[in-house]
Amino acid sequence: MRIAMIGTGYVGLVSGTCFSEFGTDVVCVDKDENKIEGLKKGVIPIFEPGLDTLVKNNSEAGRLTFSTDLAAAAKDADAIFIAVGTPPGENDGQADLSYVYQAAKEIAEVIDGYKVIITKSTVPVGTGRAVERIIRETRPDADFDVVSNPEFLREGAAINDFMRPDRVVIGAETKRAQDIMAELYRPLYLIETPILFTKLETSELIKYAGNAFLATKISFINQMADLCEKVGADVHQVAKGIGLDGRIGRKFLHAGPGYGGSCFPKDTQALAYTAREAGAPVSLVEDVISYNSARKRQMAEKVIVQCGGSVAGKKIAVLGLTFKPNTDDMRDSPSLDIIPLLQEKGAQISAYDPEGMAEAEELLTDVSYGQNAYEIMSDADALVIITEWNEFRRLDLDRVKGLLKSPVMVDLRNIYNPDEMKEAGFDYLCVGRPLSAFSAE
Ligand code: UDX
Repeated sequence: MRIAMIGTGYVGLVSGTCFSEFGTDVVCVDKDENKIEGLKKGVIPIFEPGLDTLVKNNSEAGRLTFSTDLAAAAKDADAIFIAVGTPPGENDGQADLSYVYQAAKEIAEVIDGYKVIITKSTVPVGTGRAVERIIRETRPDADFDVVSNPEFLREGAAINDFMRPDRVVIGAETKRAQDIMAELYRPLYLIETPILFTKLETSELIKYAGNAFLATKISFINQMADLCEKVGADVHQVAKGIGLDGRIGRKFLHAGPGYGGSCFPKDTQALAYTAREAGAPVSLVEDVISYNSARKRQMAEKVIVQCGGSVAGKKIAVLGLTFKPNTDDMRDSPSLDIIPLLQEKGAQISAYDPEGMAEAEELLTDVSYGQNAYEIMSDADALVIITEWNEFRRLDLDRVKGLLKSPVMVDLRNIYNPDEMKEAGFDYLCVGRPLSAFSAE
């Protein structure tokens, strides 16, 4: 069995590497020569824990290779994955599929013998059918099946998510295609992973419905946090209390500054667009999208209120810039909204992030960066935690207090306890967690 993985972005590189770890021969293809040259030397273009070791081991074992030659890779492969980018298009949330269609054409031109062509990129419902049409039009004689096999990888945990997934979804409509896909995922049968075979459109929609549901779950608990602040309830306990109901589940109920990243914002918008076009609008998801973007403004407002109503001329120290910990990804990070809003109101921002500062420098202006968490705090009027990196969870609070001009802290990820922070002498504000009844004034 041999795979060609077209596109060595996040999804393609992780998936290709993990398939090679499963024992399959994989060639990862990309148009970017520098990237491919780097990968051949073991230079990993993204930050993903564990990926470098897997790339190194499988490259050395000869199962994982890198190339810019799509034609040769596709010709030799039994299964060809399309994992190219699907950036937001110009049209109101519609994903731009030109890279997917271009890859389909290039594949069609070179294939001979039976091939399974799999869309791995997140693509709107109907894309698999369109890929089928493109290949058929380009090569009426081709023997192939198009399959949809969405990924559910979380950045920072992608290797584990690939190796031990909750489920694998495969939209494959012929026995031949199903057999090849089952063979590729054979190691997962051993650990009894549920493998769900569906038709193309169903598989495509599962990906969007899953992400939209999770985005809704996060937005729901964020709204509950707003309500908790008004009525004196604790959102941690609300999340636990409802999450222990097996029908709800405890995961994805952490209140915070709103979801970000490369998937939830893009996928909810694409789903809303598809649904509007199909004449079955998903108004719940539309509400989630607008609530989540308003939430980021609301978080800037929270900081301003905590600073006594104005941040003009004040220095605000920000810990955490990436959309979540264990990634260097800044895409749609709440920090990209919150920081400029504070700057508009006259704040000076100093910031630190363990992995995100290089990318942040390209996206934010007039921010000064430090080499560690403490360096940015000197003489700051307030400390704001936007991303919950582990190293921010156990700050030396005496040291922090000594460095800050005033001991004001806004913890948008609820990583500290309000009562303990009060005890430690901080003027502390978090999300949906007032002081406990026992210590309330
Ligand atoms: C997500 C999906 O989890 C994954 O299945 C899909 O394939 C790609 O999108 P990812 O974007 O890597 O993965 O991040 P995830 O861990 O899901 O977090 C997304 C955002 O939601 C982050 O901004 C995170 O901070 C936020 N979040 C998550 C919360 O605010 N609260 C939570 O309880 C969980």
